[in-house]
Amino acid sequence: MIVAGVMSGTSADGIDVALVRVMGRGFRTRFELLSHKAFPYPAPVRRAVLAAMDAKSAKVADLARLNFLLAELYSDAILSAQRSARLKCELVGCHGQTLYHQGDPQNFLGRKLAVTWQAGEGSLIAARVGVPVVSDFRPADMAAGGKGAPLVPFLDYVLFRHRRRGRIVQNIGGIGNLTAIPPRAKPEQVIAFDTGPGNMIIDALAGRLLNRRYDLDGKVAAKGEPIERVIHQVLASPFFWQKPPRTAGREQFGEDFVTWFQRRCGRADRYDVLATATALTARTIGTSVEMVMKRTKYRDFIVSGGGAKNLTLMRMIEEQLGPMKLKIQTTGNLGLPVDAKEAVAFALLAYQTWRRQPSNVPSATGARRPAILGKVSYV
Ligand SMILES: Nc1ncnc2c1ncn2[C@@H]1O[C@H](COP(=O)(O)OP(=O)(O)O)[C@@H](O)[C@H]1O
Ligand SMILES: [Mg+2]
Repeated sequence: MIVAGVMSGTSADGIDVALVRVMGRGFRTRFELLSHKAFPYPAPVRRAVLAAMDAKSAKVADLARLNFLLAELYSDAILSAQRSARLKCELVGCHGQTLYHQGDPQNFLGRKLAVTWQAGEGSLIAARVGVPVVSDFRPADMAAGGKGAPLVPFLDYVLFRHRRRGRIVQNIGGIGNLTAIPPRAKPEQVIAFDTGPGNMIIDALAGRLLNRRYDLDGKVAAKGEPIERVIHQVLASPFFWQKPPRTAGREQFGEDFVTWFQRRCGRADRYDVLATATALTARTIGTSVEMVMKRTKYRDFIVSGGGAKNLTLMRMIEEQLGPMKLKIQTTGNLGLPVDAKEAVAFALLAYQTWRRQPSNVPSATGARRPAILGKVSYV
């Protein structure tokens, strides 16, 4: 079956579409990536998405509109990807744009609730593309007691588990997250959690200090020196004390955090500020890897996500991991382009749902049981 996987992550950079041929079932699923394409959000859409994520200022009417607008953009992206590849999908798996995610139950009007919300109306995509759509993947895992994230470990386990080599798979999107798969691991031995900020702080500072969406290839950070004092202060914050599974988002590392971070950097120039933010991401990945290496020996460290293109970040990660003797590579070296991976994951997850198979990895999300994820919109 040809499935279109559609992802737009917390970076709010745009839409990734992967056209994937999927076969098999459960953890024995196999796939072939046929084509992938990225569609950056137009600047006003990006601004609207970022504004909507800022829960203090979002208007409900705008949220409703955004839900339908994003569905239009997702549909255009899928149709365009199909035209370029001269292919037609039979099913769509659309993650949607997370507007709010709180994976841990908190008190609200007398009930303890874990909540999440992804925008991008599945019914509209189904009507526009003409095939069934699976969307809203996270709530079913939360209803089973999980944090609703991360969901990509399903793909990581399907693709990267190995009989002899323990593998750590690190995605660097807006947020960084890792999946650790011990050698010969059963699914319940898979560990996954958010390492901390990925590109989110770097991007926000690039916007404020350089008037750019991101620090292209890490060139600005390459000219600066990280400020150790600031990194220490950030690492002392409560997020980094949490034991996995833990999840993060703009709620932790959004604009308020960036303002605080900038103030901590004092009068440092933009090179040093960008270098500090980049080193912070590398450091949080380093300490997270150290933590999982205490229990199991891993041999491979496999990076994906847009952050893999930030050369300064990759250099700093190599410095962090150097003493741990891991073989560092990107998913690109293993046949899966770094910016296609998450879109592929949602194609695979949609396919499981279509076949009524569960696809959360309970040890990764903290769910009490396997769950069939998502909601199906029929044509
Ligand atoms: N050439 C590049 N140099 C530096 N950073 C890059 C480059 N290409 C992409 N990125 C970073 O990757 C981010 C997008 O990564 P992505 O994996 O799509 O994240 P998300 O899943 O959060 O949308 C961009 O916002 C940017 O920070
Ligand atoms: Mg993205």
